[in-house]
Order: sequence, then structure tokens, then C-alpha cells
Amino acid sequence: MRRYHLTTFGCQMNEHDSERMKGMLDSLGYGEAAERSEADLILFNTCSIRESADTRFVAHLGEAKRLKSEDPSRVIGVGGCWSQSLKEKVFEQFPFVDVAFGPGQVHRLAEFLTSDSLTAQGYFEFEGFTGHLPMRRARDFQGWMQISVGCNCVCSYCIVPSTRGREVSRPAAELVAEAERLAADGVREVTLLGQNVNSYGRDLPKGEKTTFAELLALVDAVDGIDRIRYTSPHPKDIREDVVRAHAELPGVCPHIHLPLQSGSSRVLKAMRRTYNRERYMDRVALIRELVPDCSITTDIIVGFPGETEAEFAETLEVCEEVGYDSAFTFVFSPRRGTEAAELDGQLPHPVKRERMERLVAVVQRRARERAQRFVGRTVEVLVEGPSRTDPSRLRGRDRHNKTVNFEGLTAVGELAHVEVTSATSTTLAGEERLLSRIG
Ligand code: 5AD
Ligand code: SF4
Repeated sequence: MRRYHLTTFGCQMNEHDSERMKGMLDSLGYGEAAERSEADLILFNTCSIRESADTRFVAHLGEAKRLKSEDPSRVIGVGGCWSQSLKEKVFEQFPFVDVAFGPGQVHRLAEFLTSDSLTAQGYFEFEGFTGHLPMRRARDFQGWMQISVGCNCVCSYCIVPSTRGREVSRPAAELVAEAERLAADGVREVTLLGQNVNSYGRDLPKGEKTTFAELLALVDAVDGIDRIRYTSPHPKDIREDVVRAHAELPGVCPHIHLPLQSGSSRVLKAMRRTYNRERYMDRVALIRELVPDCSITTDIIVGFPGETEAEFAETLEVCEEVGYDSAFTFVFSPRRGTEAAELDGQLPHPVKRERMERLVAVVQRRARERAQRFVGRTVEVLVEGPSRTDPSRLRGRDRHNKTVNFEGLTAVGELAHVEVTSATSTTLAGEERLLSRIG
């Protein structure tokens, strides 16, 4: 049996795409190798969101090159956003790569592997949904659903619109059928994936038009799906109906990821985010009004070109004001082909690093403060496995998307009720309450 090894970088969309790649390779009769050195087919699903993602990946590619020189019959394939952003240049820079393909061309990997062609091939059209391919899930009880691909935004720092193309949504009926299949297969938590889920459905033909809030209700109605999550939303497109869905639909989890990027309206404009600080804070106020206990998380970029100390201070102010449950913080990284990479006022690294330290301090303090509201409460945890730090305890996530480590007996893939005894900025700790499950 031929064997493959796949390494995944980047976001949840890439994790999803990799599960589809695995499903497709299974159906071609390939088996998975535990080590890269044991594989006939060495695959990478790459990311290009920041320079660090590129650098990390290129080191892995070096190992693949060495393995190929030991055994030239090995096939090396590179998929995903990094590949898409370089296109044919992949083969100029890395001549040992046999097949390169973008995120919309995963299905072509099968074509390449089953053809007799020995020449290097690149596939970079925006063409298909990986969501149509067979899937092999990492966990039986959790599943991804790709509701759309591509992104019509023009955020000036972001490489994704050029790597994933224009936005295309999958019809709601197809997605409901997929949710039903997943539920029948034992999945109880689904995560709906799109580059901007809030604009889902706008491109569907007349008669099939469905809003994101309507899609949430349709998936919520599927028997057996206990939890619905989604990523990523865009503050400019999140509407009241979606916020209401968090309050009204039992399956939709009380967690909204609302990427801020910057607290300064001037910087937001230069980022082409199409909202300002006030509009963003209006969205936060709406969430707090309709779903008071909702977790709010965010993404923030520090050191965007031209960001002044006063503008950075506005980002800190917003973080203080909102009190995020957690935040992903990034140092601005100029990306090839993006508008922001060409802007004047690129900041020196020490300035970016120093701002980052101050930002992380505020984010962590506010997250720790916010997390104290869970102490003394009993939360519902979907058990994912043993605790990473103490294997005698269990680990899972609650509906607010907090990681919970606890003493308990519930099996992996089942729901436990855990009384929270302490909280840090990132995790909750507690003990399972068996009686509350009966009562
Ligand atoms: N530099 C730094 N961070 C970036 N992000 C996207 N592009 C860049 C970049 N060029 C961040 C944004 C986005 C998250 C997925 O990655 O915060 O929301
Ligand atoms: Fe990376 Fe963005 Fe592509 Fe995801 S969509 S793999 S984060 S570049």
C-alpha cells in the first residue's frame, strides 16, 4: 500500500481542507504514515498569513527535499495558501516539488496521483469546494462544515483574498444534508467555516438566497447537533439577527469572535476594514444587550504601518472597555502583493514588539478578570481527552469556548457538567458534578 504523510499549517479552514485531503487519499487506497520518512507521498497544506508561517514551513520543506534525494521515487506535494501565493514560482524556487495546488484545487491532487505524468504540475484556479470531497475527521464527535470559500473583502494587510479567491457560498439545502449526515455519524459539535461567514448566502441564486442567521436556524434544527460554532465573522457584516440567534437557538454557543484589528478609526480606515471604532463598539453593545453572558474574542494587529503611539493607545482602550475573553494578537507582517506592504511608515521591529508586550498584558489581565464570572458555576463541557498538563484529569471545552481541565469520569465525546473552582486568563479548572446530570 502506498503511504502519505500530511502536515497542516494555518487556520481551521486548512484543518478542514486537510481532513478532506485525507478522505480523498483514503478513497484512492493510500494509507497514512506515522512519520514523514516512511511516506511515499509527502504533503503539506500551507499558510501564508504572516512571514513566520512561511519561514516555519520552508524548514519542513527542507526535510522533504532531503528525503526525496534519498529516494527519488517519493512524491512531494504542496497545497494551500503559500502555494497559491507563489503559483509556478514554487517550481522555480523548489524544483524537487512534484505537485503544487491552491486551496480551490485539492481535487486535482487525485488527478495528478492517478495520471501517468511524471512532470511537475501546478493547479491554481479557484474552482471547487473541498467540502464536496470525502472527509476523514480527526475526532468522531466534532465536525467542520465549509459553508463558503473565498473572501470579497480588501483588507489592506491580508493575503487571503488573493489565495482563496472571490466568495462563493454552498446552498443551504446541501449544508443541512451534510449536517444531518454528520449527526447520524455521531458528530455533536459542528463548526461552520467561511472566510467571512456573515456574508454567507448573498451570492446564491434567487430562490436559494439564505442569510447566515437562517442557516444557523436550519442547522440548529438538525437532531443530534448539540453545539454550533462558526468562524470567521466580520464586524462590518454581523447583523442583529445573528446576535439574536445566539440568544434564541439552543445549539448556537454563547461565543462571538469579533476581529477588531485596531482600536483606531484612522488605522481601521487604512486597513480598509470599513467600520470605525464607534461602529465596532455598537456591535459589542448589541451583543452585551442581547446575550449578556456571551464570550467575545478577537484578533488584533499591532504595528500597522503609520500606527502612532496615540493610535496604539486607542487599541488598548478598546481592549480595556470590551474585556475580551481572549484575543489573538499579531505583529503586523508585510505580505507579498498586499497594499499595506507598500505603505510608508513601516515600524521598526522593537517598536512593534514593545507594543505587543503592553497589549498582551492588558488582554491577559482583562481575560483573567472576565473568567472569574465562571467560578462557582456549573458549566457543560464536551470532553476532548486527558488534560495536557495532568493526564489523570480530563480536558474539554465549555459552550463559551473556554478550555476546562477537571476531575471526572465522563467519556471522550460526551458532555460533562463541571463545577468551576478556579479560572486563569486561558483555562478553567473544576470538578465534575455527577448528580447534576441526573437532576
Ligand atoms: N500581519 C499580521 N497579522 C495578520 N493577520 C492577517 N494578515 C496579517 C498580517 N499581514 C491577522 C488578522 C486576522 C488573523 C487571522 O490574522 O488579525 O484576523
Ligand atoms: Fe493561512 Fe489565511 Fe490561508 Fe488560512 S486562509 S491557511 S490563515 S493564509
